Amino acid sequence: MSDRVLIVDFGSQVTQLIARRVREAGVYCEIHPFNRVSAESITAFAPKGVILSGGPASVADFGSPRAPQALFDLGLPILGICYGQQTLCEQLGGKVEPGDHREFGRATLTLMDACALFEGIGSKGTELQVWMSHGDRVTALPEGFRVVGTSEGAPFAAIANDQRRIYGVQFHPEVVHTPAGTQLLSNFVHKIAGCAGDWTMKAFRAQEIAKVRAQVGKGRVICGLSGGVDSSVVAALLHEAIGDQLTCVFVDTGFMRSGESEQVVSVFRDRFNIKLVHKDASELFLSKLAGETDPEKKRKIVGATFIDVFEEEARAVGGADFLAQGTLYPDVIESVSFTGGPSVTIKSHHNVGGLPERMNMKLVEPLRELFKDEVRVLGRELGLPDEMVGRHPFPGPGLAIRVPGQPLTRENLDILRKADAIYLDEIRKAGLYDVIWQAFAVLLPVRTVGVMGDSRSYDYACALRAVTSTDGMTADFYPFDMAFIGRVASRIINEVKGINRVTYDITSKPPGTIEWE
Ligand code: XMP
Repeated sequence: MSDRVLIVDFGSQVTQLIARRVREAGVYCEIHPFNRVSAESITAFAPKGVILSGGPASVADFGSPRAPQALFDLGLPILGICYGQQTLCEQLGGKVEPGDHREFGRATLTLMDACALFEGIGSKGTELQVWMSHGDRVTALPEGFRVVGTSEGAPFAAIANDQRRIYGVQFHPEVVHTPAGTQLLSNFVHKIAGCAGDWTMKAFRAQEIAKVRAQVGKGRVICGLSGGVDSSVVAALLHEAIGDQLTCVFVDTGFMRSGESEQVVSVFRDRFNIKLVHKDASELFLSKLAGETDPEKKRKIVGATFIDVFEEEARAVGGADFLAQGTLYPDVIESVSFTGGPSVTIKSHHNVGGLPERMNMKLVEPLRELFKDEVRVLGRELGLPDEMVGRHPFPGPGLAIRVPGQPLTRENLDILRKADAIYLDEIRKAGLYDVIWQAFAVLLPVRTVGVMGDSRSYDYACALRAVTSTDGMTADFYPFDMAFIGRVASRIINEVKGINRVTYDITSKPPGTIEWE
């Protein structure tokens, strides 16, 4: 087993980034919410070091979160970040008070003393740019601690107890606005906690293959393939682990983009030689959706139809003992919610929820420990083509939610598919595909008048959308230059019969959402 680090989450917005940085340093880590951590669970997890995250609470508030007191007696190296630093100070006998002036954003940290945390970063007198976000601050250190860095708003911005290997920083080393943060976290996990740094995708692949073989034994596994990154990587990994015990079912809704269905078949059946059922269910999906224009109803119908078809195909190949799913780490992290209460459903994204329960199968989820970009690295490692591994996110209901306000037909889907393909082709040629989170065309439910040659046209308008984002939760529209947009528009109007007008969507999220429906 690789050396591991435990991250205790106090609910900061950026706790996941700590995990990302630690894994980039080649060390396996997990995030556990503070209220689920105990001396026993820490011992069972067997970390070589513990990081206490930031969080929105104030140490001074009644009932605010704490690390289990026993953590400090286990002799493990500890790094407290922001709230994590404040609570560790308070729990070890120091003092935390509301700051006179809150520090948000860029600040300058001045190093006061040499410290293992800052090895290779700076020495006494070095000034570093750091990112702060705090109201409270430490005002008295617990016994055995010394100050190693200060900032204008935080006299104890970096502290150390070298003997006990306990450290704290008021700033956030995990965000990009703290340029030396990656090195600082690497110093903590390698130099202070002594982790080996052997968490690589090659190692993960071998370890996961062994795990899958042990879990599945001689059982049979079914995997739903969609052409997306996650299910593709699951399929390739499982095939390597259990060969012919795996059957993939590709339910073709007819709502895929241009060339995608063909690619799924050619990669998995022809290249990887995986047992693949390709079910063209486009007729069924279209008939179930006939006349429907309500976005949520469309999602529900697509989800339910998908499950029906999948079940039927699974039965047709003789069933299976296990269902493989591309669940990722962000889906399984239990985050700490301070606001409480369920959030409003804007869109129901989980189109195929409930499938394993209904089919009474056990789950195989080999990507449960990975972040999305780690899945991509694993996909490349397994030999999946770049276009598949680096593909933009694509919603389960596909093009069905990109023809708003009018009933879906083969004709309007085909028109949309052609416009979308031209747009993506131009984005790829311009070298912009990888800097954009998602780009697509939307077929609008209006016809507009145009003039082509000497005659009048009366055709659809289409909208182009492209956004940058880090997680899909917020997004900015992509600022293409006008010459690029003009080129795409004229290609679409010239090459796609049925479209005579193109617009560009400049709405960010919020207030818009990424998809139009
Ligand atoms: P919105 O439109 O909510 O989208 O800003 C955020 C991300 O989710 C994708 N999306 C979906 N994915 N089923 C999915 O699997 C859905 O029904 C669905 N709706 C939106 C969207 O493409 C974007 O990446």
